[in-house]
Amino acid sequence: MTTQIEPLLRQALERRKPLLEALEREGTDCLRLFHGVAEGLPGLTVDRYGGLVLAQTFRDPLPPDGLGALEELLRKTLPYAFAFAYNHRGKKPAEPFEKWHRPAPEALREFVCREGGLKYLISARHRGIDPWLFLDLRAARRLVRGSSAGLSVLNLFAYTCGVGVCAADGGAAEVWNVDFARSALDVGRRNAELNAVPPERFRLVEEDCLTAARQLAGLPVGGRYGQKRRYERFEPRSFDLVFLDPPAWAKGPLASVDLVRDYPSLFKPAVLAARPGGRVIAANNVASVGYAEWEEVLRRCAAKAGRPLRNVTRLLPDADFPSFDANPPLKIAVCEV
Ligand SMILES: C[S@@+](CC[C@H](N)C(=O)[O-])C[C@H]1O[C@@H](n2cnc3c(N)ncnc32)[C@H](O)[C@@H]1O
Repeated sequence: MTTQIEPLLRQALERRKPLLEALEREGTDCLRLFHGVAEGLPGLTVDRYGGLVLAQTFRDPLPPDGLGALEELLRKTLPYAFAFAYNHRGKKPAEPFEKWHRPAPEALREFVCREGGLKYLISARHRGIDPWLFLDLRAARRLVRGSSAGLSVLNLFAYTCGVGVCAADGGAAEVWNVDFARSALDVGRRNAELNAVPPERFRLVEEDCLTAARQLAGLPVGGRYGQKRRYERFEPRSFDLVFLDPPAWAKGPLASVDLVRDYPSLFKPAVLAARPGGRVIAANNVASVGYAEWEEVLRRCAAKAGRPLRNVTRLLPDADFPSFDANPPLKIAVCEV
């Protein structure tokens, strides 16, 4: 495995040289160092988050000797000191990999990494599976930060509020971060504090996104199967920028989030909650959905809602997320509404 990965890792790092220089200039020390199938090893990713390097497998787990060899290779190849952690997120291994991989306690503490000079908390192991910052969304965070001055911003599926922090740091007049997971919003609040974001411009809303977005858009809110439930009430209002980056699938109290079968049920309230002349930045991370067909879904949905999109621009992830066919799994559409 290491004989196989050594030349591939070196090639991946060589390819990233221009990006690494650009990221260093902008004050970023977190990036994907190795990107699975697109760089020759399906199912293996290696990410740097400041002082932490995290390897992850999404298909078969690495055998114990393979993992040791990978760590050794990374230590001899990367020009900085780091703590190393490994997580397996693919097929269930014969025995729990935690049995033979115990990261050093150092690797399990919280880290602070930097992106564009902003600070973000990172944890390799916690209750969830993602380490608190999605690296492939960097290009979108950069765009939001550079274009939010004076705006009102609605950040749906906010997770740890990376996008919200960028909007606030970029001078947004107010940022609403909506997510139903309190644990994610807690990290978001701490991310905001780390970056001296004024709390009065940074609102955390612990609520189902569909329930919140439909109210803000002036649409009725029902209950799943007609059931009664309690939810936070909002008056209809519009935002200059709505950011919509949902997970591929999730169960919700009103309806399931399903990016393959039903993007419109999220996109419609997002468009209606954006002011005419404003923007919706929408993302879809399902690899099997092609960009062109998805953009068509967005256009049809907005037109049907009476708010045809005036313009749509595609935003590609940075070069640490290469793809064979210029069709990376994460698709980002910047929609003028
Ligand atoms: C893919 S992440 C979103 C990533 C995020 N946009 C970012 O910038 O990093 C998924 C998030 O969606 C949240 N989520 C999933 N379904 C939800 C729902 N129906 N309402 C509110 N939050 C939801 C989860 O709690 C999780 O924090």
